[in-house]
Amino acid sequence: MENRLEEIMSREPLVVPPSERLARAATAMQARSVGAAVVVEDARVVGILTERDLARAAAAGADPAGAAVASWMTAAPVTMAPSDEPTQALDRMLDRHFRHIPVCEGERLVGMVSLRRLTKAASLGRVDPWRPGSRRGLENVTVGETRLSHIDGARGCLIFAGHDATELALGRSFEDVWALLQSGALPADDGFARRVGALRTAAVPTDVLAAIARSGGPITSQLTTALAATGAAWSLANWHTRDPDEIAEEALRLAAIMPVLVAALWRLGRGLEPLAPDPALPHAVDYLRLLRGAMPDDDEVRGLERYLILAAEHGMNASTFTARVIASTGTDVASTLAGALGAFAGPLHGGAPSLVLDMFDEIGSPERVVPWLDGALARGRRLMGFGHRVYRAEDPRAACLRDTARSLAGPRVVLALDVEKAALERLRAAKPNRALYTNVEFWAAVVLERVGIPRELFTPTFAVARVAGWTAHVVEQVRDNRLIRPTSDYVGPPLEK
Ligand SMILES: CC(C)(COP(=O)(O)OP(=O)(O)OC[C@H]1O[C@@H](n2cnc3c(N)ncnc32)[C@H](O)[C@@H]1OP(=O)(O)O)[C@@H](O)C(=O)NCCC(=O)NCCS
Repeated sequence: MENRLEEIMSREPLVVPPSERLARAATAMQARSVGAAVVVEDARVVGILTERDLARAAAAGADPAGAAVASWMTAAPVTMAPSDEPTQALDRMLDRHFRHIPVCEGERLVGMVSLRRLTKAASLGRVDPWRPGSRRGLENVTVGETRLSHIDGARGCLIFAGHDATELALGRSFEDVWALLQSGALPADDGFARRVGALRTAAVPTDVLAAIARSGGPITSQLTTALAATGAAWSLANWHTRDPDEIAEEALRLAAIMPVLVAALWRLGRGLEPLAPDPALPHAVDYLRLLRGAMPDDDEVRGLERYLILAAEHGMNASTFTARVIASTGTDVASTLAGALGAFAGPLHGGAPSLVLDMFDEIGSPERVVPWLDGALARGRRLMGFGHRVYRAEDPRAACLRDTARSLAGPRVVLALDVEKAALERLRAAKPNRALYTNVEFWAAVVLERVGIPRELFTPTFAVARVAGWTAHVVEQVRDNRLIRPTSDYVGPPLEK
């Protein structure tokens, strides 16, 4: 959209004096095909006469040939300056249900801006979804507003509600960051952590979870089923006509039970009894304990906590967008999370970290790094843990987790550093026009393995973190909702005659 109203306003708006008869003003509006006239007296804007005013006069039985504009106009209308931004005009129109705003320099009328002109100026034009480099995959298409996070892809910086995500990862607890996403501010005490601990309860009866675990299939699919079953067991209803605070509470309850569901499904799938959550423990500690039945050491907790924080939120990624689309229909919160998880599990999104370890296994030893990478790229394979839709610099989460992995040490770190160096050199040579760097999944895989998370649980563990972001987005959508319903270009055959 252009930057100033003067760039899009009509410069010769229809002007009538207040003494003009309604019939003559209406005829002039019709002749000029405009929906409003500015009422000017002594070079000052004193009112605006719109089609709505004319309809009001007609409904009241006013005599158009006799009644003066002054009696039916909207007096002292909102005006704007030529230097104002079109988005400000649009906001004002939407807030106040106007369709026209006179543009004045001081008191002097210089133009008029209409909703039609603003919409035209803002229109994106036709999008060819399949043209490479266009908006295919919705690349660079803005689909909404959020206060939750911002990715500065060019600088490689991730902001969570005004805070640098990597600083949060180094200095805060997962619960603090979760509270930040929930409320917009870092908490001053442990009230939120205690609340989440109390909500981390056994969600659905063990026999229901056991039946889900017995059904087999990937654990991400089981988790999706368990979330939906929890929604049903809790009788979560459509949110559309309900108090948003109630929905926020339901969302928090669901997010809090994620580690409990993951650990229970995991243990049941191995013939082990699920353990009871401990509300007094931090989320990361209790998750590891629920999985393995023993308390983790400090290094493991530090590694997992950093990972959970960095993975908690990340702009309008595919699963978050899915959650918002589903939420926008007014359905229950469990359905939004089950849908988000479905989108999340794919290898191009949250399913990548375990594939990074598969890659390490295939490579096996340091001397095989270069031939393996060359062979994979020659066969057109994508290297897991590299590339990103938004970052055109190093993913700051990858850098932070690389440092974490180094500080925790472990057998994978040396091989991972070798693979990363060689892969970046090769990607740079193979795709000189595309800035390909290490993404979060690469070092997340190393850290998660080091803290003892089984490979099959990498994606569910990612979901334990990301549910904080999903639920915050769902609540943001609920508090200011409009159905998300985009459009598409029809490229099929024409209607048969
Ligand atoms: C993350 C990812 C899906 C982003 O995809 P995208 O923005 O759609 O990127 P594109 O598909 O436009 O890729 C652009 C080019 O870089 C190449 N490329 C991107 N990531 C690559 C990778 N990891 N390995 C090899 N080549 C890669 C593509 O082949 C493409 O080349 P082309 O133009 O010659 O076809 C992609 O980088 C990828 O598949 N990475 C591996 C999976 C992964 O790590 N996922 C976790 C994401 S956090």
